[in-house]
Amino acid sequence: MAFPTETVYGLGADAANAQAVAKIYTVKGRPTDHPLIVHIASMQGMGEWASDIPEYAIKLARDFWPGPMTLIVKRSELAGDFITGGQDSVGLRVPNHAIALALLQAFEKTGGKGIAAPSANRFGQVSPTTAAAVIEELGDYLSAKDIVLDGGACDVGVESTIIDCTGDIPRILRPGAISDEMVAECTGLEIIRTYRFVYDSAAGLTIIKPDQLRVSGSLENHYAPKAKVFLDQQPKTGQGFIAMADIETPVGVIRLASPLTNDEYARVLYQALRAGDEQGLDEIVAIQPLGEDIAAAIRDRLKKASSKQ
Ligand code: TXA
Ligand code: MG
Repeated sequence: MAFPTETVYGLGADAANAQAVAKIYTVKGRPTDHPLIVHIASMQGMGEWASDIPEYAIKLARDFWPGPMTLIVKRSELAGDFITGGQDSVGLRVPNHAIALALLQAFEKTGGKGIAAPSANRFGQVSPTTAAAVIEELGDYLSAKDIVLDGGACDVGVESTIIDCTGDIPRILRPGAISDEMVAECTGLEIIRTYRFVYDSAAGLTIIKPDQLRVSGSLENHYAPKAKVFLDQQPKTGQGFIAMADIETPVGVIRLASPLTNDEYARVLYQALRAGDEQGLDEIVAIQPLGEDIAAAIRDRLKKASSKQ
């Protein structure tokens, strides 16, 4: 079943059922060594899936769940290789969405322990932020018995912050709406990032460079639409254009989004990339947002979307 969360739509299956989970990999076309996030109804469910939870992870769960944050913790026996891709850790998240929580609670009432759900897109493609986008992505691969729950457009629009909690201090694997600063403040600890902020003087912008770790959507080429994406350039006639509202659209350029804030930028980004594909555009120019909040997550996804060339 595909279902909405506050970040993006997920494609869910019983996280304790290897056969059900196998279907996720088939429908997504995803390599089986890519681990899945287990969604749970509340932080009480952590103990089922984790064998060791550091104090700082409990603090994070208390402060930011339900919410756009995934914690990677040492796994329990319940978390099979078919969930973790054979790693000894498991990703857990309590989503902040009424439909997702109702689904998780109902599932727990029937004895379920959690729902494994990756974003409901084909491997490497743009994550869906509406039910229509899920059907567009996966319609050909789902059967009549499969269900898509429609909860409207997702509020956050980019995937959860992923924090590795298997070490002494938190390590941020994927930036999201829960910012580095929020993690540091909540835990009172130094944090490690698996990506770096680098000031690009030619562009006059701070950009994100991922470290060479093969984890967490950190593969280049992820989140990519069919159109080629270029960053921080003057858009030309016939190209799509995504930028903050105060940046004007040159004549002949097709404006795909004009967000007023970074939060709005995150919310509309994937729909804007999809709209470019729907209009048959070959090229889209995006001007990256400034700031260290959710803007960092937007720059991370834009960088990946633009590295498809
Ligand atoms: O916002 C989200 O996180 C959405 C919604 C549906 O919850 N889900 C999502 O799932 O983005 P997915 O599978 O598209 O991305 C999850 C990422 C993957 O790149 C995977 O490698 C990483 O989380 N991940 C999961 N378990 C992990 C683990 N044990 N260690 C390292 N990375 C892990
Ligand atoms: Mg994904």
